[in-house]
Amino acid sequence: MDEITRDVVVIGAGPAGLTAARRLVEAGKSVAVLEARDRVGGRTWSDTIDGAFFEIGGQWVSPDQTAIASLAQELGLELFDRYREGDSVFLTEDGERTVYSSDDLPVGPKSHEGLEAARKELNRLAAEIEPAAPWDHPQAAEFDAISFENWLRSISDDKVARDTTAHFIAGGMLTKPSHTFSLLQALLMASSAGSFDNLLDEDFILDKRVVGGMQSVSIRMAEELGDDVFLSNPVRTLRWSDAGPGAAAEVTAVADHVTVRARHAILAIPPNLYSRIQYEPALPRTQQIAHQHHSMGLVIKVHAAYDRPFWRDKGLSGTGFGVGNIVQEVYDNSNHGEERGTLVGFVVDVTAERMWNLPEEERKTTILRSLADYLGEEAMNPVAFYLSDWGAEEWTRGAYACSYDLGGLSRWGAVQNQPVGPIFFASSDIQGIGYQHVDGAVRIGADTAQRIVESGR
Ligand code: FDA
Repeated sequence: MDEITRDVVVIGAGPAGLTAARRLVEAGKSVAVLEARDRVGGRTWSDTIDGAFFEIGGQWVSPDQTAIASLAQELGLELFDRYREGDSVFLTEDGERTVYSSDDLPVGPKSHEGLEAARKELNRLAAEIEPAAPWDHPQAAEFDAISFENWLRSISDDKVARDTTAHFIAGGMLTKPSHTFSLLQALLMASSAGSFDNLLDEDFILDKRVVGGMQSVSIRMAEELGDDVFLSNPVRTLRWSDAGPGAAAEVTAVADHVTVRARHAILAIPPNLYSRIQYEPALPRTQQIAHQHHSMGLVIKVHAAYDRPFWRDKGLSGTGFGVGNIVQEVYDNSNHGEERGTLVGFVVDVTAERMWNLPEEERKTTILRSLADYLGEEAMNPVAFYLSDWGAEEWTRGAYACSYDLGGLSRWGAVQNQPVGPIFFASSDIQGIGYQHVDGAVRIGADTAQRIVESGR
């Protein structure tokens, strides 16, 4: 077992941890990044499977996500636009299919009225929320005591309006059923993206991708850090003391093949994994309790590649939307410069559970059938097919990210980003702007590095 000493030990080589490490090195600090997996990137992971290039994890960048956009540029990476020419497809729960081209979903007048009422109210309330401190809103506790589902019932008695509105935050973002999280949590999601309108607009929220894949952001940062990144080194124990100024080493991170002594630690792992580490001494009571109120959502990201983007021949953009269907959203995800066509779809929360319970072949046919319902029979015969299974990943345990249970955000949110002695916390899942996104990971990574530099130790 090697023992080394650094200024800062960073635990987790996802975009948050690597950004923090890179900024610390720029500021003249020495670092060691300890990563559990045999690769960097965390929830960003780009790979070729059966000859097809897929973005297994995070991929899209929206226009307001300037931190990830400028980092990509700094690293010499290019962004490209998602393909979006043509009509979209809307599927009702009963399978009724409408091809449409306007910004408005093709729903009846009553549903439309309910959608508008919810949209306006969510925009209004989200504008009152400070993404970095939603708990400071005067009605935070009240908003955190009502489930998003029940709040929607108070806005509209139209089920289509409620289910559709819910989807843009529940299935589409937090990947949890709308009765399991609060209105406050929903407002944080909307305010962190600028507004609820931004979540509704796929041309905004799913605007650009990184040429070569989002994981290359992390790969390039890790290349710069070189031998200071230690793969296949899950941190099992973190010894710490709050000895104050002048103490030589305040944390010792014990990983499988290396032990790092440092003045500071940055825990750049998702909050649902904090308790995988043994702390000596134990973390304070507040953190021990607070950390139990975070949990990951669940989504299957569906990838299907075809010889050519057949939907474009029919004047379709590849965009399909249908709450209540197996695949609730589908998009053209063709790679930069490729002639072949790639679709990406999402199967969320309880439907994802149902799919994982099916035998493999039946699961594949059921999911492809759902893609075909949107875009045509050709969808049944991909040349490559893959399901991202983040729930089975030991070092993530769900997707896309962590959020609080009902009442958790107003009660515990304020402590999530407070250091404990020499231990700092950095994850996209405890960030304000860019919450649950790569942009948020980059922002909190950079901010945490700055806080450590400013501490003067
Ligand atoms: P992240 O989870 O990426 O990294 C944490 C790292 O810590 C991991 O590498 C892990 O192995 C490691 N680790 C955990 N425990 C450890 C231990 N004990 N010791 C050492 N290492 C440990 N975002 C976006 O902007 N656009 C998008 O389109 C999407 N889409 C999307 C799809 C899917 C399927 C997923 C799963 C996620 C997204 N996201 C996204 C979210 C985005 O990927 C996510 O917000 C960031 O990757 C978070 O970066 P972090 O560095 O905070 O954590």
